[in-house]
Amino acid sequence: DSLYVVLPAAGIGKRMSKNIPKQYLKINGRCIIEHTIERLLSHPRIGQVIVALAEHDSMFSTLDISKNSQVSTVLGGNERSDSVLAGLKAMHEQTWVLVHDAARPCLTHEDIDALIHFCFKHDTGAILATPVRDTMKRSQTNQQIKSTENRNNLWHAQTPQMFKHQQLTRSIELALQSGVEITDEASAMEFANVDSFIVSGREDNIKITRPSDLNLAAFILTQQKEETCA
Ligand code: CTP
Ligand code: MG
Repeated sequence: DSLYVVLPAAGIGKRMSKNIPKQYLKINGRCIIEHTIERLLSHPRIGQVIVALAEHDSMFSTLDISKNSQVSTVLGGNERSDSVLAGLKAMHEQTWVLVHDAARPCLTHEDIDALIHFCFKHDTGAILATPVRDTMKRSQTNQQIKSTENRNNLWHAQTPQMFKHQQLTRSIELALQSGVEITDEASAMEFANVDSFIVSGREDNIKITRPSDLNLAAFILTQQKEETCA
């Protein structure tokens, strides 16, 4: 019952526009990726984290966490899906696997519990997501409004995403071979026609994307420590 997590961490953080990839920026004194791995490994059901790194990454090996026996690394790829696939192929065949963004350090045990519980109970893959709260507009390219989308049943996909290892590997391979763009694991499952579900998660499981997210994440991490759910 020791679950594996693939942690894609091979991105360059273009939208963050800093001189190092965003996963190595510090929040409350520690790198984002250290927070993320620590949240995962402190969960009793998670036993191993496989980190997908960029080819010339010189930073990960300098972190204490890289010496942890529950952490291993693999060479990532050009797209997130390539990085995830590399991680999936580097591990022994497992029944289940979780995939989680290195850039989401505010993940709580509460959300991990909810996701794992759902997948085990229903024997199906699932992802964490939050319901869309604003009115959703579709526009033309020139930003002229075309229509209002029905907000019912619209979600923001987060990670972790949890699937059967074999099904996920096959689905990503299938999608990559067909050249379709897959932005998360669930989209590969959709492409391969494998059912998956949404588990409603916490809104504070943010993906650090732009500079303003750094202060927000610092606040959330401090806040969560007080909740003891982290
Ligand atoms: N990722 C990866 N391999 C890639 C691209 C992204 O492992 N080829 C990882 C990132 O490191 C991140 C996660 O996927 O942990 C989510 O991606 P995103 O937030 O888009 O990060 P970046 O691609 O680094 O950021 P940006 O899109 O702004 O460049
Ligand atoms: Mg990206």
